Order: sequence, then structure tokens, then C-alpha cells
Amino acid sequence: MSALLEVRDLKVHFPVGGGLFGKPAGVVHAVDGVSLTLARNEILAVVGESGCGKSTLARAVLGLTAPTAGDVLLDGESVLGLSDVALRRYRRAVQMVFQDPFESLNPRKTVFATLAQPLRIHGIVPMADLRTEAARLLEAVGLAPGAPYLDRYPHQFSGGQRQRICIARSIAVRPRVIVADEAVSALDISIRAQILALMKTLQGEMGLSYVFITHDLGVVRSLCDRVCVMYLGQIVEEGPTERIFAQPRHPYTAALVEACPLPDPRRARAKAAPPLSGDIPSPLKPPPGCRFHTRCPVARPVCATEPPPERRFAGGQVARCHFAEEAATWPFGRLGAAAA
Ligand SMILES: Nc1ncnc2c1ncn2[C@@H]1O[C@H](COP(=O)(O)OP(=O)(O)O)[C@@H](O)[C@H]1O
Ligand code: SF4
Ligand SMILES: [Mg+2]
Repeated sequence: MSALLEVRDLKVHFPVGGGLFGKPAGVVHAVDGVSLTLARNEILAVVGESGCGKSTLARAVLGLTAPTAGDVLLDGESVLGLSDVALRRYRRAVQMVFQDPFESLNPRKTVFATLAQPLRIHGIVPMADLRTEAARLLEAVGLAPGAPYLDRYPHQFSGGQRQRICIARSIAVRPRVIVADEAVSALDISIRAQILALMKTLQGEMGLSYVFITHDLGVVRSLCDRVCVMYLGQIVEEGPTERIFAQPRHPYTAALVEACPLPDPRRARAKAAPPLSGDIPSPLKPPPGCRFHTRCPVARPVCATEPPPERRFAGGQVARCHFAEEAATWPFGRLGAAAA
């Protein structure tokens, strides 16, 4: 069965100015050869530290940033260079929820105006039914009864309620995929859990698939089926969530897992690990060989010169590390002995 959404060897490079005679001084390799697939009804996490290229990848998937190379496919068909009509259909099928629910809502628009716009543009319901449909959407995201909320403005809502409104806007056009970029990162922990539960419920009710972008592995564990780990514009490991947590095969994933709170505090980690040191290197000049070698606690000389190939493991786990087979011997990175 073909994937619902597929990203093939996608690159997004940004020339940056400041060179002599107006020439670019360099090129930011924000996304540098990413391939991934999203199946129907799947929740796929894309994780990694700030600056690793997650938002750029999301924007390229949504057609908001033009890729330098590569392809994005929906139902096996390329979405690059689509006609206006086909692009509109794609934009309806693939919606986005952003991190900051305040910034992504127009403060001068009522909730009704915000929800009515996509309903009108895509002709989802007859004009006479716009208010009823907008109220129904609010109820679907837990703001019930919906009608009294319709004439309020964003500032009259809490952060959690605003994110519910953003989610209502994204599901208004009955999409198939939602790309959520740090959608719960700005929310308090208790509210975060509620929004995650809402997104999970909507997934079941509407048959949605998600690309769930986050720097927080705790969120991944509670929500996502599969994980792609990004480092400096590339995917360094991917696989089913439980496998990634039980035995990460890339030291970077292991470091992220190590930093993640244990699900059961009575369980002990295998051993304490050194936290990930140093900053992510500049994407203007990614390190040669393995891009992680400047920070890797188990790097060897080959890592500085040879880019690691993909190593494949049971259950569809894939890691780009020369020594992925040795992961079980690393003195860090598993969520407790019982997890292995
Ligand atoms: N329009 C742009 N021009 C130049 N550099 C950019 C642009 N957008 C993003 N970047 C750079 O690309 C890298 C990846 O950014 P981003 O995709 O926002 O990462 P993340 O979402 O993982 O934090 C960063 O180094 C960022 O500064
Ligand atoms: S290839 Fe080498 S530097 Fe890269 S993650 Fe593996 S051990 Fe570390
Ligand atoms: Mg981002």
C-alpha cells in the first residue's frame, strides 16, 4: 500500500547574503535530504533540537517554502508544480497547526470570522449554514456549547482554548493530514495533556493522520506511532515509538531519550549518561562525515570523515550511525532496564 504522504530526498537551502558584490556569503542547509512516509491514520513524530530544520520541513511539505530539491507526494502524486486548482485541493487535504495559538489567530477577527473563512473558501457548507457549522466545530474541539463563543475575540480565551480554536480551524475543511508544529509546546503541562487527548480523539473520529513536530520526547511517547529524529537537516533515526524508546540505535536519539522523564518513576535507568554537550553546529557549514561527530560521546576517527550509511533493524527501525549495531553496549540512552 502506498503512503498517504511521502517526502522524497527533500532539500531546502537558504542562500544568505553578506558576501562580496551581493553574492551569497553561504548557504543554510536547513533541510538536507529528508525522506519520510506517513501512512493513513498514523501519527508520525518529527523530533530534534531547536534549529535542526523541523519547521522548514513542515513549511516545505505545506508548500509555504519552495524546496531546493526533492519531492512531496500525496497519494503517490507529486504536489510540486501543481495547477492552482490542484494546489487548492492539496491545501485543503493538508492543514497546519502552529505553536503559538495567539499569533496564529487574527486578534481583530471574531471566532466566527476565523472559522467561516476556510468554510467559505472551500465551499464546505452552504452560506446559510456557516454559523451552525462553526458552532459544531467548536463543540468538536471541546468548546461546548459552541454558539456563545462565536462572537468573541482571541484575547477573550485562554491559551488552551485558543489552541482548540486553531484546531477547529484546521479541521474545518475536513483535511486528511494535519502537520502540527510544536502545537502544544507553549501550553501548561495540564492543558498540554488535554490538547493531546483532543488531537487523538479527532484522529479516531475523522480518520486523520498527523505529522507531529516537537522537541519534547515525552509528547512523542504519549501520542505517536512512529518517530523520525532530525539532526542538522537530516533524519538520523526512525522507527516505531516503542522500539526507539526501548533501544535507540543512534547516540543522538539515545541522548534525547535519556533527557526524557521516565514514564514510571519507580523504574531506574540502565545507567546515568552524560547529557548532550555543546550546541548544534551551524547549518551554514555542517561537519563532514557524520554530522553528529562533534558532539557524539562514542565517536571514533572514521566518524569525522565517512558519512554513515543507513543501518536497518527489526521492526522498520533505521539508524544512520556507523556503530548502530553496538547500541546495546552504550552506557546510556534506554528508558530503564525493563524497557529493553
Ligand atoms: N528563511 C530562512 N533564511 C535563512 N535561514 C533560515 C530560514 N528559515 C530557517 N532558517 C535556518 O534554518 C535552520 C532550521 O530552522 P528551523 O526549520 O526553524 O528549525 P527548527 O524548527 O527545528 O527549530 C536554522 O538554522 C534557521 O536559522
Ligand atoms: S557515526 Fe560515529 S559520530 Fe556519528 S553517531 Fe555514530 S558513533 Fe557517533
Ligand atoms: Mg521550529
